[in-house]
Amino acid sequence: MILGVGTDIIEVARIQSSYERFGERFLNRILHPNEISYCLSYKAPAPFLAARFAAKEAISKAFGTGIGSELGWHDMEVGRKASGEPFVILHEGGQKLLSARGARAVLISLTHTQTYASAVAILDGV
Ligand SMILES: CC(C)(COP(=O)(O)OP(=O)(O)OC[C@H]1O[C@@H](n2cnc3c(N)ncnc32)[C@H](O)[C@@H]1OP(=O)(O)O)[C@@H](O)C(=O)NCCC(=O)NCCS
Repeated sequence: MILGVGTDIIEVARIQSSYERFGERFLNRILHPNEISYCLSYKAPAPFLAARFAAKEAISKAFGTGIGSELGWHDMEVGRKASGEPFVILHEGGQKLLSARGARAVLISLTHTQTYASAVAILDGV
């Protein structure tokens, strides 16, 4: 059963510019170490970084909370299967919300071009 849905789109240039200005500090604020390593394994990491930023905003919309005190950037992580398929790992606040909503998982799909990155998240119930 679908309990929630969220979507987000972002200009890659916006993330590129925050990364250029604030460097690792910006990355560490919004991403987990595994997400950072994955994105930085590309010569041009901005679209990958932007997609993960969009993923977190989309997840926060699926929960209906936005990103804030209930659900922080580090409460959500985007993992990657060997096939390339992304999956959501929830930590602390994210796990709490998942239980509170009676949900089983958050499903995610990402897309990016050189210009835009976008994500759709679905809160999946039993
Ligand atoms: C909810 C949130 C993700 C919306 O993101 P946004 O970039 O402000 O706006 P978007 O254009 O992506 O989305 C707007 C839509 O989100 C939806 N939305 C707003 N609050 C929502 C909520 N609590 N739950 C689900 N959807 C929500 C609305 O439909 C809104 O459209 P509307 O104003 O036409 O009704 C945002 O409020 C938030 O939590 N942002 C955190 C961002 C942040 O900390 N940025 C710092 C950068 S490092």
